[in-house]
Amino acid sequence: MKVLVTGGMGYIGSHTCIQMISAGMTPVIIDNLYNSKPTVLDRIEAVSGQRPVFVNGDVRDKALLVDVMTSHKVDAVIHFAGLKAVGESVQKPLEYYDNNVNGTLVLVDAMREAGVKSIVFSSSATVYGDPASVPIREDFPTSATNPYGRSKLMVEECLTDFQKANPDWSITLLRYFNPVGSHPSGQLGEDPQGIPNNLMPFVSQVAVGRREFLSVFGSDYPTKDGTGVRDYIHVMDLADGHIAALKNVGTKDGLHIYNLGTGIGYSVLDMVKAFEKACGTTIPYKLVDRRPGDIAECWADPAKAKQDLGWTATRSLDEMTQDTWRWQSENPQGYPEV
Ligand code: NAD
Ligand code: UFG
Repeated sequence: MKVLVTGGMGYIGSHTCIQMISAGMTPVIIDNLYNSKPTVLDRIEAVSGQRPVFVNGDVRDKALLVDVMTSHKVDAVIHFAGLKAVGESVQKPLEYYDNNVNGTLVLVDAMREAGVKSIVFSSSATVYGDPASVPIREDFPTSATNPYGRSKLMVEECLTDFQKANPDWSITLLRYFNPVGSHPSGQLGEDPQGIPNNLMPFVSQVAVGRREFLSVFGSDYPTKDGTGVRDYIHVMDLADGHIAALKNVGTKDGLHIYNLGTGIGYSVLDMVKAFEKACGTTIPYKLVDRRPGDIAECWADPAKAKQDLGWTATRSLDEMTQDTWRWQSENPQGYPEV
């Protein structure tokens, strides 16, 4: 199976390419390197033994997409490319709607022209808004509280309408919970530019001495220790979820929606403690005000993915923190420029 992987140079995309190669699939990457470095390709090759085709291009370039899909005879698309910072999306809504919503519309239009009818889309648990209860099932109501979340919801709705009008297409919406961790080789990982927005990259930069302390956003939530609770999932498990989706529903007509999470919630302080165990040092932190827009707790009911895809997350919290630490300590400044 040949698969066009948009955003394949990014955090989740690069790990997925490695797992695809080991599953005998051939990824063809398109990425504009807006949030990734060319050296990711060298690392994919070093770890997997194969250097995927890489096209430096934008998902809003329809002619390029048609050309790549046709010349490489791709069977399916996994669509990771997009912008993902919640706070930035409030400042730059146009850029978010253009990259995430328009980018997907152009991509699907190009697929139609190239005769490719299978797409797996990177959605997010953010589409559940502030859930009325946990664990969250796929049939829970959806809502959005910021432009990033709204862009994911809009794409889900556009793809749902499109699938209704084109019943011979296979469209899969994967709602990721909180991806963390790195490839166990320490060669690939998350490499945010500037100040990290997310917990684990921030914690690992404190551990490596790039930041002084962690600000824990809120200690008065109605949770076991007052800090926010999330469903952290190892990025390698998430990567495997894409392969399971392609194999099991990627060739079946219909709209397929799955949570990709572990079903387990950990608090911010649980994560700090687990990280301290992995890196062997203390992570200094300060309890500060809640971050606007954050919810108290969020974790998945992963039963549907287990039943239909035969997929379940298997990697432990210790693997998540140990693998993050290996990546961060061996690459303290992230990927090299060249
Ligand atoms: P990432 O930024 O590491 O990867 C995205 C890649 O897409 C980058 O390499 C970037 O250069 C590329 N890109 C961006 N806009 C592009 C465009 N217009 N054309 C071509 N390439 C473009 O992000 P990630 O963490 O790997 O996330 C991948 C996907 O998963 C995103 O759609 C994101 O919204 C979604 N997601 C991520 C998380 C998370 O916490 N990381 C959670 C839920 C959903
Ligand atoms: N947190 C801190 N300090 C930090 C960063 C985060 O205390 O410096 C806390 C947050 O308050 C939250 C938890 O750590 O309780 C996790 O925060 P993240 O920013 O890592 O993750 P979120 O759950 O807020 O957001 C993630 C993705 C978004 C997605 C959202 C919902 O990053 O893209 O899940 O699915 F929209």
